[in-house]
Amino acid sequence: MPHSSRRARKPYHPKRIISESEDGWSRVERTTPSRYGSTPLVDSSLPPVDRSLTVQKLLDEHTRCKQQWANSEARQWLQQLLARQVAEGGWSLDKAVCVALGSPSLSWANRLRSVWQLVMFMDMVEMVRPKLNHANELKLYAQEPRFTSLDREFLQSLAVTVLDPPQAEELVDESTFIFIPCIEWMLELPFMLVAVKSPLYVSSSMHWIADEAERSRTRLTIDFNSNKLVLKQCDDAIAAAKAVVNTHHENNMPETDFADGHSLSLTIYTLKHQDED
Ligand SMILES: C[S@@+](CC[C@H](N)C(=O)[O-])C[C@H]1O[C@@H](n2cnc3c(N)ncnc32)[C@H](O)[C@@H]1O
Repeated sequence: MPHSSRRARKPYHPKRIISESEDGWSRVERTTPSRYGSTPLVDSSLPPVDRSLTVQKLLDEHTRCKQQWANSEARQWLQQLLARQVAEGGWSLDKAVCVALGSPSLSWANRLRSVWQLVMFMDMVEMVRPKLNHANELKLYAQEPRFTSLDREFLQSLAVTVLDPPQAEELVDESTFIFIPCIEWMLELPFMLVAVKSPLYVSSSMHWIADEAERSRTRLTIDFNSNKLVLKQCDDAIAAAKAVVNTHHENNMPETDFADGHSLSLTIYTLKHQDED
């Protein structure tokens, strides 16, 4: 029965955002409010950019990138780094969450970057798996609002569970390997707050994020009517970036040029052990 004294809730009208994507398509997106801010939603039924793409073709590309990655200096560097910086009892991790991968099937220009980043994410999981501090399974997840249904099938076939925003924000905790190849700082903030205690965190750079948040803060303080919530997010991001740098070793992965003209430069944050300052 309707409750007559209850005030009607203000209806929510999703905003429409029309943007031009790298592949020349106009994309119509909606936003939905969440406690993590507005999250873009893209209809997962969007067709892949290349209609002849199939899960098998994506798997073949994945294998090709994996072979190239296996022989790269960056991988060797990463392997040595993780072997050096593992805690005495092993990695205290029970899940690995990849955020903002981009879509492996949606854009001509960038889809292979996503395949590359997926290869790295999954390989890092393989590197830490033999050195976990428990016998449980380490589960893999990926969250990206632009995943098409083909991407979802592809990831499923690789045993990566797809999450819809804000499930990843809700799932991550201090036993999570967090892998965020590139995302707007405000969207990375909820992950940074958790990453302060995470043994393994991959991001663009905490310095870059702190600088971006500082710039936004400066712009906002000029405007008397500026949004207090956004100002707080700037302060939180600056503080969280500094906290991650203080609690972690900061390791800049050597910039690697892969075939297909893609170059990746990531920062690997490994939690300092108790006896380290
Ligand atoms: C700058 S792009 C990076 C894509 C890809 N990693 C690359 O390097 O080309 C940022 C990505 O973040 C995604 N994104 C936005 N909000 C997100 C959220 N809440 N969770 C996961 N991904 C998100 C966007 O859809 C977009 O694909």
